[in-house]
Amino acid sequence: MSVKEIKHPLVRHKLSIMREASKSTRSFRQLAAEVGALLTYEATKDLELESYEIEGWCGTIEGERIKGKKFTVVPILRAGIGMLDGVLDLVPSAKISVVGLYRDEETLEPVPYFEKLAHDIEERMALIVDPMLATGGSMIATIEMLKAAGCTDIRALVLVAAPEGLDKVTSAHPDVDIYTASVDSHLNEQGYIMPGLGDAGDKIFGTR
Ligand code: PRP
Ligand code: URA
Repeated sequence: MSVKEIKHPLVRHKLSIMREASKSTRSFRQLAAEVGALLTYEATKDLELESYEIEGWCGTIEGERIKGKKFTVVPILRAGIGMLDGVLDLVPSAKISVVGLYRDEETLEPVPYFEKLAHDIEERMALIVDPMLATGGSMIATIEMLKAAGCTDIRALVLVAAPEGLDKVTSAHPDVDIYTASVDSHLNEQGYIMPGLGDAGDKIFGTR
């Protein structure tokens, strides 16, 4: 397993704008989707290709397509919805498997409340999307749901991650690669990522 912090200039630029406290809901949501697309690009770089014949304007030529890989995108409700459109822009035929979890404000433990997965998830690569990986509890619970359903090929895309949460997820699930736009400094006493983005769900849905 590995944690890949994506240092592409576009990612760093867009994430910095998201950190500005004055950003509107509309801008924050748009940027979450854009960074989601850029993380998808990075997370799919190693997919295998196969050749096939194309009837082009000048006759038959050789084309390339992704070999036999089907996707399911797994947004963790609620905030993961903010990255979903950006991810689907790059993998438009993916099925969507939705997982609902919220973090108990006192214990910081994830509380599951919804699960609807693609019926053939065992044949798909799952791309879990959630803006924040803080204690790692929500990510671990989601990975466990996917594995229990038979999924064996899992990658996670997060905007911002805390080192404490990354350690927990990588020890529990060393087979899952995590792509993040930033590994931030630490968690504060309330379990918020510092400097982080604040409450990403509230910012995406305009409920702050
Ligand atoms: C946030 C975030 C993650 C979780 C991360 O969701 O979107 O799902 O917290 O924290 P963890 O790593 O400590 O589990 P939240 O519970 O605030 O719910 P929301 O998406 O409905 O706002
Ligand atoms: N959830 C958020 O939205 N932000 C954090 O910093 C941690 C959990």
